[in-house]
Amino acid sequence: MTKGNDSVQVWDILVRIFHWTLAMAFLVAWLSAEELDTLHYWAGYTIAALVTFRVIWGVIGTHYARFNSFVFRWKTVKSYLKEFISLKPSHYVGHNPAGGLMVILLLISLAVVAFTGMAMIASDGLGPLAGSWFSQFSGEWIEDFHELLANFTLGLVVFHIAGVVVSSIIHKENLIRAMITGKKRPRRFR
Ligand code: HEM
Repeated sequence: MTKGNDSVQVWDILVRIFHWTLAMAFLVAWLSAEELDTLHYWAGYTIAALVTFRVIWGVIGTHYARFNSFVFRWKTVKSYLKEFISLKPSHYVGHNPAGGLMVILLLISLAVVAFTGMAMIASDGLGPLAGSWFSQFSGEWIEDFHELLANFTLGLVVFHIAGVVVSSIIHKENLIRAMITGKKRPRRFR
């Protein structure tokens, strides 16, 4: 039996390192996009490597890191969002249904941004895709697509951070601290 003030280990050390390294790499990639090419490329490779790691960890990782613990049916996401709007969302120990969907969208979006970036520079003989079939994709359209997706990802990040802040307030639980310590409150309540 757990007492009210007990906490459970939710985010393992790899998820926490993944998260804060990803947040930093995204910031660096964003700030270096216009002028600092080499820094921008390395931030992009870091994001690609982190997303690859997270997909693997989502299959073989610890309980709350696994996709099957936070990918919910659309019906569940919808009813969670309704609860959220009425400011009475159910409490989840791991990612809630809306948070889980956001994680998937972020991972897909980041993967496509990193991939289009690597395809763009492959035609100049740079990056891991140089010399591959993808080096034929050059020109303005791919640059525009890369930029559009990067802006879309930034929009997701803004929603992500807003969701974290609002959830923390509604549940009176510091989710940001939980992503640092790995610990969260175990019990479910409304
Ligand atoms: C200061 C900025 C940020 C804060 C405070 C923050 C906070 C958090 C928190 C608290 C969680 C856990 C949510 C939960 O309890 O369900 C989380 C998860 C996550 N965040 Fe952030 N985040 C930030 C920036 C970012 C950025 C920039 C990205 C991506 C570019 C990002 C991507 C993710 C992902 C993918 C997860 C899922 C973690 C996992 O299960 O591996 N975050 N974030």
